[in-house]
Amino acid sequence: MSYLIKPYQKIQGILNLAGDKSISHRAVILSSIAEGKTLIKNFSFSDDCKATLKAFKTLGVNIKKKNKDSLIVYGRGVFGLKKPKQTINLEESGTSTRILVGLLSAQNFSSKLDGKEPLRKRPMLRIVHPLRLMGAKIKAKVKNKDEYLPILISPNRLKSLSWRMSIPSAQVKSAILLAGLYAKGRTKVYEPVKSRDHTERMLKLFGANIEVKAKSIYISPSSLISPKKIYIPSDISSASFFIVLACLLNNSCIRINNLGLNPSRCGVIDVLKGMGAHIRIICKEKGHFEPIGDVIVRSSKLNGVIVSEDIIPRLIDELPILMVAASLARGKSVFKGIGELRVKETDRINSMVKNLSNMGVKIEMVVKKGKEVMTINGVNNLNGGLLKSFGDHRTAMSLIVAALLADSPSRIDDIKCISKSFPNFFKILGQILR
Ligand code: S3P
Repeated sequence: MSYLIKPYQKIQGILNLAGDKSISHRAVILSSIAEGKTLIKNFSFSDDCKATLKAFKTLGVNIKKKNKDSLIVYGRGVFGLKKPKQTINLEESGTSTRILVGLLSAQNFSSKLDGKEPLRKRPMLRIVHPLRLMGAKIKAKVKNKDEYLPILISPNRLKSLSWRMSIPSAQVKSAILLAGLYAKGRTKVYEPVKSRDHTERMLKLFGANIEVKAKSIYISPSSLISPKKIYIPSDISSASFFIVLACLLNNSCIRINNLGLNPSRCGVIDVLKGMGAHIRIICKEKGHFEPIGDVIVRSSKLNGVIVSEDIIPRLIDELPILMVAASLARGKSVFKGIGELRVKETDRINSMVKNLSNMGVKIEMVVKKGKEVMTINGVNNLNGGLLKSFGDHRTAMSLIVAALLADSPSRIDDIKCISKSFPNFFKILGQILR
């Protein structure tokens, strides 16, 4: 079934969004292996985070939903997880899978992980390889020089590792850090380009023996103590769709409350500001384990922008919506070194090029010195059309924003995928469309 999206004139209002997906995963994971119970507020009840919840229930953790946006996790301590009675089904969640493989490699029981077809296509060698160097016994499906789910883990005592990240990836880093929490000795992860640091921040909050020095992170075995209560800031990736929409519609103004403003995730705001966006940040709660603030966005005239490779990890999930912004900006935009987009839920380069080209945008992809570079020449109007999400949540929401900005109605083929990260997307949109 396809869905009709009609162009809109303006948005206005105050938004309270669900908690950040990345931070929600980590809150459940660390609360589960901590001493004591943890109340997690503003949790993201997205499909992916629900997969993490289900996995830890399978691992013997008692987790109770308290109300529509909070839950209580009864921690079992670092050695308290139970051998799962069945295969751990991670549905479509890449983050849950990759981080869990790190954690489960260090347990004294065996486990099997699997997921739905799209997850079975996500490359796992990036985590499996460093974990094996730590002594992890992992069997995965080998295909085309990479490894994939289903994964079978057998118990083994891990040793520490000094690892230099070859691609910036918070999932890989987190898998190694969680394995390092159990490994003999001090594990080091060196990141030439920093990826999101939610795991490091949360490990500190739980009292882990972790130290961050410039681009290096060190972790040694330690127990974790629940901070009792965690408030998850709202998800900047979800917010980015409305931020771009508010910029590009006339007479629009929105305020997003309690937004996660972690510098390792704020690339989208920096790039939009560089394009001329009127974005005001009201910082608050400086003592919170994650920076948090309110953000006010007003209609803006956007100009083209050069997005360099080193900022990509700070906005990797926001690239599709930034491509929409670039499509309606004045002049040329260039996105450098975006190859990792090909191995997200779907090949987001392919899907955004196809859809935006259909809407009348001139996009070009070239490979320069082995790096993928996209050039977008901004247009004055987007044509409505037949849009394809390819079953990818971020592609779907980016295209819906493009359709709302177009000069004629559009149809999009599949929007069910949106619940992967943002089940309330349409409800929130309905609240601010004027
Ligand atoms: C995530 C890390 C990023 C991001 C993903 C969530 C995380 O992936 O794209 O949506 O929560 O750690 P990579 O680690 O593959 O860069």
